[in-house]
Amino acid sequence: MSTRPYIVGNWKMNGTRALLAEARAIDRSAARYPGIQVALAPPATLIAALREAVSAIGVGGQDCHAEAKGAFTGDIAAVQLKDAGADFVIVGHSERRAGHGESDAIVKAKAEAALECGLGVILCVGESLAERDGGHAETIVARQIDGSLPQGDAATAGVPERLAVAYEPVWAIGTGRVAAVEDVVAMHAVLRERLIAAYGDAGKDVRILYGGSVNASNAAALLEAEGVGGALVGGASLTAEAFLPIVAAAGDEPVD
Ligand code: 13P
Repeated sequence: MSTRPYIVGNWKMNGTRALLAEARAIDRSAARYPGIQVALAPPATLIAALREAVSAIGVGGQDCHAEAKGAFTGDIAAVQLKDAGADFVIVGHSERRAGHGESDAIVKAKAEAALECGLGVILCVGESLAERDGGHAETIVARQIDGSLPQGDAATAGVPERLAVAYEPVWAIGTGRVAAVEDVVAMHAVLRERLIAAYGDAGKDVRILYGGSVNASNAAALLEAEGVGGALVGGASLTAEAFLPIVAAAGDEPVD
């Protein structure tokens, strides 16, 4: 199983082919950090081209449908992402949960479909500001993870290697307001407990990433924290200049 830190860039709805130059630069530098697993999740339109452009980093989708095919205009099946060259897919991002009405049950079905067709999965959870201010963050996130974790033999055969969880507090995403390290540590401990409850020993090795305003200045403190297995990075993953210091902060010495 991989215990390498996992540093993933989520490009969201940003980028045309012009941005492939940044991916190439990220790929070249990532090759110098074999101890760190690096990946980018570009918009679906760029998956195939990015796959061709890189060799050291993983390539992922940002969402998939739970069904393998059918009359779902505008949606993409996990197997189609795989066919386009993706290694993994992000499911349950708060921008999907909030903007597209995705419930825990839908996220779970997507995660299962992705794992069953051989993709890796990054499953996102996180509380809103009102939920944190109300003192409910841990209860909400525990409920989300319990309802969203993939189940069934076909899907859980990919645990722990192909499943990662990302804790992304909604109020920290794109706001420049990063969560306090002690709050991240506390939430990751809650998530670990739920993963072990769901998968037994395999749950001990699922990597738990932090996401939300990660940048070159705060990455080291977050990545060194107890229970933090990597980072899911939005805005700071769009250029090599912003993203590579985050990769370097994962702690490995580069090789030449
Ligand atoms: P930012 O790094 O832009 O806050 O985005 C985080 C995120 O949502 C990654 O999935």
